[in-house]
Amino acid sequence: MATSNTNAAPRDNWGSKLGFVMAAAGSAVGLGNIWKFPYTAGENGGGAFIVIYLAFVIFIGFSVMLTEFAVGRKTGRSAVGAFKSTDGRWTFVGVIGVLSGLLIMGFYPVVGGWALAYVQKVSTGLLSNPEAIGDSFGGFITNPIQPLMWMGVYLLMNIIIVSRGISGGIEKAGKVLMPILFLILIIVSVKGLSLPGAMAGVEFLFSPDFSKVDSGVVLAALGQAFFSLSLGMGCMITYGSYLKKKENLVQTTGMVTAMDTGVAILAGIAMFPAMFALGMEPAAGPGLVFVVVPQLFAEMGGVGLIFALLFFVGLTVAALTSSVSLLEVVVSYLIDEKGMKRTTAVLSAAAVMAVLCIFASLSLGGVGPTLFDTGAFDIFDLLTDKIFLAVGGMLVCIFAGWRLSREELEKEITNDGEVKFPLFGLWYNLVKFVIPVAVAIVAFAGISSGFDSGKGPIMLMGIGIIALTGLLSKKL
Ligand code: PFF
Repeated sequence: MATSNTNAAPRDNWGSKLGFVMAAAGSAVGLGNIWKFPYTAGENGGGAFIVIYLAFVIFIGFSVMLTEFAVGRKTGRSAVGAFKSTDGRWTFVGVIGVLSGLLIMGFYPVVGGWALAYVQKVSTGLLSNPEAIGDSFGGFITNPIQPLMWMGVYLLMNIIIVSRGISGGIEKAGKVLMPILFLILIIVSVKGLSLPGAMAGVEFLFSPDFSKVDSGVVLAALGQAFFSLSLGMGCMITYGSYLKKKENLVQTTGMVTAMDTGVAILAGIAMFPAMFALGMEPAAGPGLVFVVVPQLFAEMGGVGLIFALLFFVGLTVAALTSSVSLLEVVVSYLIDEKGMKRTTAVLSAAAVMAVLCIFASLSLGGVGPTLFDTGAFDIFDLLTDKIFLAVGGMLVCIFAGWRLSREELEKEITNDGEVKFPLFGLWYNLVKFVIPVAVAIVAFAGISSGFDSGKGPIMLMGIGIIALTGLLSKKL
């Protein structure tokens, strides 16, 4: 695969490579693909959003992921250390990554908890009353207590996995359950497509109407690309630091990007035709998968029950393989930079996350503080997905393009000239010039357009936090 090593058994090379690709894909494929992508596409007009999203994945996501892998493998350090060891003035970029990890974990476990709750709900008769499925979701997430309990259990699972160091059980569970989840998404798609009225959903997805595209839609597509590919917060830098010198970074990046995008598009095909057939609104919001999937399977009797169960177990595991990577970014910072023991680091990080999650979960029932009419759940989502990740990714590109030399990057990416990467020049220019400018324009326009809805000030606050972190970088 990566190189022809005459002494090593080629199967070993393949095995370890596949292991890495699966781990990185495990981080990338998660709630972002199956829960967030369909409803974000729905809220932003469908087809046109998807075209823009795909363009960002190909031209920006791929390049940023390759950059993160290269920086991680070159420095052999995790998020903060990778920057600090090169140039102390850049430490703040790693710290913003840690902050993003904390904030994403301020709402991700809430939704992870929903997935877990749905395993139980499906097994205890949710499907027997299909008409009530929609209301039951609304009632559940706005309940002040129930979702909190499930969030607690979900967060506990993360704590246990990350305290033991990533690997072992969760990776094995992922390897079995991810292909099953993929298969179930195909079954859901086929079932959805067979319903009368489903074609309207296919049209919504694949015939883009650019007349509805504004800068808010473009920023949403950019944010979704970064979120889904786990970019812009040092997660893939950390993963890259474990990569062996002989592995092919370009090919690995291609595989992870393709898998992640494939699952997102498949989730779209699984949801929209069914939604249109069931008469739901495309902008149905965060409840989409939790309503569409049970409704579809409810019609199928006993087999449907098994499929629905497998779907929510698979969704929980997909979420877990992503959230442990988020928690790990924060934990490795506390261990490496603050000298904490692993258990202390995990417990302190999780304690902060639990508090944020309580605010996020309660905000969905209208309880708790708001800022510009926006509750905690949406604030954490807005700050990270729309600002921190995109700006973080932009800063990683500026760091690679302007602080590292073209020669060292070329050596790292081509394994000292052993791997051919004919597009190196293109990649380098994208990273050095195009991506920083493109992200800046999209973020600026998106923030300006967000002022009508109260989202602008919150996103602007995100920029302020980044600037402040930069100013304080000496102390971090
Ligand atoms: N990519 C994950 C998902 O799609 O669910 C979420 C995520 C994980 C974002 C890790 C960022 C990250 F560093």
